[in-house]
Formats: sequence, C-alpha cells, structure tokens
Amino acid sequence: MEDFHAAHGLNENYGPIPASMVDKSDPSQLAALVAGAGFASQPNAFDSANIEAEVQASSPEQPNVNVPAGRSATWQRIYDQAIAGNFIAVPYHDVKSTDPAKLAIATKIHTQVASGTAPADTLPNISDVFLESAYPDLGFSPKAGATGHEMLVQMCHQCHNSNLDQTISRARFNVDLLQTMSVEEKASAVARLQLGDEDVHKMPPLMFRVISAAEGAAMIQELQTPPTPGDK
Ligand code: HEC
Repeated sequence: MEDFHAAHGLNENYGPIPASMVDKSDPSQLAALVAGAGFASQPNAFDSANIEAEVQASSPEQPNVNVPAGRSATWQRIYDQAIAGNFIAVPYHDVKSTDPAKLAIATKIHTQVASGTAPADTLPNISDVFLESAYPDLGFSPKAGATGHEMLVQMCHQCHNSNLDQTISRARFNVDLLQTMSVEEKASAVARLQLGDEDVHKMPPLMFRVISAAEGAAMIQELQTPPTPGDK
C-alpha cells in the first residue's frame, strides 16, 4: 500500500477502483469469491499465512523490506511441484517482488511525469521494477543449475502441456511429449528460441520469461539431442 501511494498519492483511482476504496481491498474476499464459485480445493495451494510467517522468521525485516529475500519451506514445496511441470508457476514467497532501487526510480519519474514536471518520453518502462535476483523464484527464469530438459519444463510447460486445448497450433509443441515429438517440431522450437527480441513469434514470450544466452543454448541442445529409449 505504501509503495502504491508513493507513486499514486491518496486521491488517485486505480482503474475503476475509487481511491477511497484502495486501502479497503482485502485479498481474502477474492479468495472467498473463488471458493464460492466451487474452487475451494486447490491442488497446489499457496498457504499465505504459513509462507509469510516462515519468510518473516528467515528475514525479520520482511515483509516491509524485501532484500534480503525470505525463505519458506512451505513455499519451496509448491515451487518444486510447479517447476517439475505438475502445476503452473506459483506466486513469489515474499510480499514484495520489487527491487527497491528500481522501484524508487520508477516512482520518482512517474510522479514527475504525472505532475507535468518532466516530459512523458522520460518515463521508463515502469513494469521493469522486479528484483532480478528473484527471477527464478518469480518463475521468469529457470532455477539455477537446471538441466536443458528441466528448463524446457520450467520455461515452456505452462503454455505447452497436455491439459490445454489440443486443437490449436500451439499444442503441436507439447513439453509433456518431448520424448515422442517429431524432429520437425523440435526444429521449429529451436527456431523460435533463436528469434530476435523484436520478433513477436519469439519463444518463450518476452513478456513472461527472461532467459540468458546460455540457458537458451542449453534448451536448444536438449531439443537437438535424440531421445534416449526408455526415458520420459
Ligand atoms: C506464456 C505462454 C507461452 C510460453 C511460456 C511459451 N509459449 Fe510457445 N507458444 C505460445 C503461444 C500462445 C503460441 C501460439 C502462437 C504462436 O505460434 O506464436 C506458441 C507457439 C509455439 C510454437 C509453435 C508451435 C507450432 O507448431 O505452431 C513453438 C515451437 C513454441 N511455442 C515453443 C515454445 C518454447 C520452446 C517455449 C519455452 C522455451 C515456449 N514456447 C514458451 C505460448 C507460450
């Protein structure tokens, strides 16, 4: 809330939410809505109370100060399930996912532009405020030390798996079926990974993932290696 008000003051609406209602927002109401719609039982549930308590115990200035990052065994279990490809990426363990220095700069320039004291073209990409060291835990980047195959699961599976609509072209690349995937489809995945950042067909999509050249190369190598009989 403090971070929001630092950038937007106390009287600015948040989209259709009136300024006077912003501080009254309550995530448990949203959870209740989801439960009311019949989805109370979640397969890889984010146990926020336990996670926040463990994070705070590991790093006492949390949640107000999020560097150093916190640790949580409860969170680690759901993260490990997600990166194994069993569930979609889990939310970050700390309350804040921002880099304090980047956030301060974005807040300052946004405030200046909004008040007319700086020209609009000085506004940086204000979505570039995340803590870079947290990219793996945020699900943007592969976990350190992951193999090429593990990276394909972590970086592609969310949008390329057997549970999604299998009738559209996107389904031709399915990380669950790498073992039996045609050489042509794997080559098309390699070509997507090699596209430049300016190409909208680039995979993984830039809006969702940040991969290094070495990580891209490891995934390409995995896609170019013939499957070993008996492997999954
Ligand atoms: C956030 C969702 C998302 C992620 C993550 C993602 N993709 Fe995609 N991918 C799509 C969508 C949507 C399409 C269909 C649109 C298109 O063809 O560009 C697609 C299309 C593709 C295709 C073309 C399939 C065909 O035969 O037409 C390939 C190959 C592919 N992705 C590979 C990858 C690889 C490799 C990764 C991980 C390194 C990845 N994608 C990560 C959403 C995603």
